[in-house]
Amino acid sequence: MRLGILISGRGSNFEAIANAIARRKLDAEIAIVITNRAGSPGLDIARERGIPVRIIASQGLEREAYDKLLVEELQTHDVDLVCLAGFMRLLSAHFVRAFPNRVLNIHPSLLPSFPGLDAQRQALEHGVKITGCTVHFVDEFLDSGPILIQAAVPVLDDDTVETLSARILAQEHSIYSTAIQYLVEDRVTIEGRRVRIREDERP
Ligand code: GRF
Repeated sequence: MRLGILISGRGSNFEAIANAIARRKLDAEIAIVITNRAGSPGLDIARERGIPVRIIASQGLEREAYDKLLVEELQTHDVDLVCLAGFMRLLSAHFVRAFPNRVLNIHPSLLPSFPGLDAQRQALEHGVKITGCTVHFVDEFLDSGPILIQAAVPVLDDDTVETLSARILAQEHSIYSTAIQYLVEDRVTIEGRRVRIREDERP
């Protein structure tokens, strides 16, 4: 399975996916990393590993015009699955239709709680005792598509946004590759909002 990874910043989820591939826990290859921000630190991680990168700046472009550029680039690289990893843009229906049920996102909360920006801060301020992270299919709405996998993370009394985010991030790095591998193994069916994952049949 050829992955196209979209980032806007640090790129630690992208790096975790690349590590899972290198350790043969994920049977896929990264065809292209695309960022909308030229200064994304994640670009250096890609370059160091010899993974093709492309900067497609979004400034000044209408959403659909920008998304057409993204789709073209992803199709040029024969991408089967698009993985959003800290990509700070909402995608249009045009984009989602180009990759039906083939776009994933990772979000640092147990959706549908705390969508949008600063999910970890939202969880702390709300006072929940458990939060976590979610890998979900992407539709044209914010953090809203069918949920593929979640991991729970406790909120501790002395947590700050930083300590909580770090604990959640460790789980993000684990579940994103697991979710992609489910798709690689063709074990996933979507029925409305419910996503079923068939038991692993390997011995
Ligand atoms: C992660 O917390 C992810 O859940 C959210 O944005 C952050 C990206 O971090 N969507 P990184 O760029 O993968 O390090």
